[in-house]
Amino acid sequence: MLLSTRVLRAVDNPVWLHEMHRWLGGTALIMTGLHLLSLVLDTWTRFSVTDLLVPLAADYRPWPTALGIMAFYLLLAVYGSSLLRTRLPRRWWKALHYGSYGAVVLVSFHAGWSGTDVGTWGYRLVAFVLLVSATVAALMRTLSGPGRPVTEAATPQPRAMPRSMTITAVHPLAADIVGLDLAPLDGTTLPVWQPGAHLTVHLPNGLQRRYSLCGDPAERTGYRVAVHRTPHSRGGSAWVHEHACPGTVVGVSGPDNHFCLEPAGDYLFLAGGIGITPIRTMIESLPAHRSWRLIYIGRSRKAMAFCDELERRWPEQVLVLARDETGTRPDLTRILTGTTATVYCCGPASMTEEVTTLVPAARLHIERFTAAPTTPAARPRPFEVVCARSGRHVRVAEHETLLHALEHAHVPVVASCREGVCGACAVQVITGHAEHLDQVPHTRERDEQNVMYPCVSRSRSPLLTLDL
Ligand code: FES
Repeated sequence: MLLSTRVLRAVDNPVWLHEMHRWLGGTALIMTGLHLLSLVLDTWTRFSVTDLLVPLAADYRPWPTALGIMAFYLLLAVYGSSLLRTRLPRRWWKALHYGSYGAVVLVSFHAGWSGTDVGTWGYRLVAFVLLVSATVAALMRTLSGPGRPVTEAATPQPRAMPRSMTITAVHPLAADIVGLDLAPLDGTTLPVWQPGAHLTVHLPNGLQRRYSLCGDPAERTGYRVAVHRTPHSRGGSAWVHEHACPGTVVGVSGPDNHFCLEPAGDYLFLAGGIGITPIRTMIESLPAHRSWRLIYIGRSRKAMAFCDELERRWPEQVLVLARDETGTRPDLTRILTGTTATVYCCGPASMTEEVTTLVPAARLHIERFTAAPTTPAARPRPFEVVCARSGRHVRVAEHETLLHALEHAHVPVVASCREGVCGACAVQVITGHAEHLDQVPHTRERDEQNVMYPCVSRSRSPLLTLDL
């Protein structure tokens, strides 16, 4: 009911709700199996297996029994499509999933019409509640419009137009790091975001760059990001440091989140340089009773944003390792040996790659600045793309990326890192099989929405249909 009515979509349908949904689905199937078994074993009703699997084969109340059998098949289809949802085109499993409404209606009539204790007040009440629930859910679903969640956190928004925002303040946070405060031009309330989320900022020089949010998630009137001027800037961070000033208007996509903070008993946060920005909001959001430590690594204290503040607020939990103070490179092996904590790491490639060799993947959450080195895949092959919304056909040659081909064909796609790391270019695959070559962290939303990242990913099938 909560999922189908989208009552909780404002908080992005929390994980526990999805888990409970799956658990109840499986339990319903098991209970139905037990129900069928009990009918076969029951000597009063004398059902054969055929009676219970073939509609209208039973002598006992044939139509009510047939409704129950049809509900069982619908339930099987719904559950089976859930298990296969990553292999089926999204609209197929979605269509099959709507069968759950039909199953509830059928089983309500079946229960209210065929049970041996039909007529008792309890039985009537159950059937009535089921029917009313299914009707309310179907009505609310219809009235609540298309399924895009209100929040943009954790959900790719490939086609959303960037929101126009004004830079309201630029403030230095450390050497080569500035904080930008952004407010929507039209004064609207901003979407909810969760710690670890980032924005894609569309700069006036035509570049798009991804910056982690480092403000207060409860603040719905503005965003705050921190921008590090990279030594070999490709034009994004240099532009911000040289030109951004109060009153500058930029486009903003997101928030998106590929670095979600998941529940854990004990956390070890590892931040390298500007990687502190998502980590800081994570720490802020933790309940007081959570156990955590932060190892904050940088080349010099004056180039490390929020350094003094973090040490002052949590002197017991924060360890700052500034190279200009320690004189050596931190020994990550020593830091990570023996820990059983869930590790969240955000920092430069040298750091994230070393951490991946030291922490089991099940306990590790990483946000990368740049793509990790990979072994080249098999020789790329050309393929065709159909853009379902615009109707455009795009041919992708073996030597070019899908993103490049789309841009060349004037199909707008948001992009930032162009290395398969940030997730900004997410597009939904409607049909065909994507060859995922990105390093964007895996999330359930990504699987459910059948998302690919065209800056690096390609196609296994000769034809892909994209929701563009
Ligand atoms: S642009 Fe960053 S993942 Fe594609």
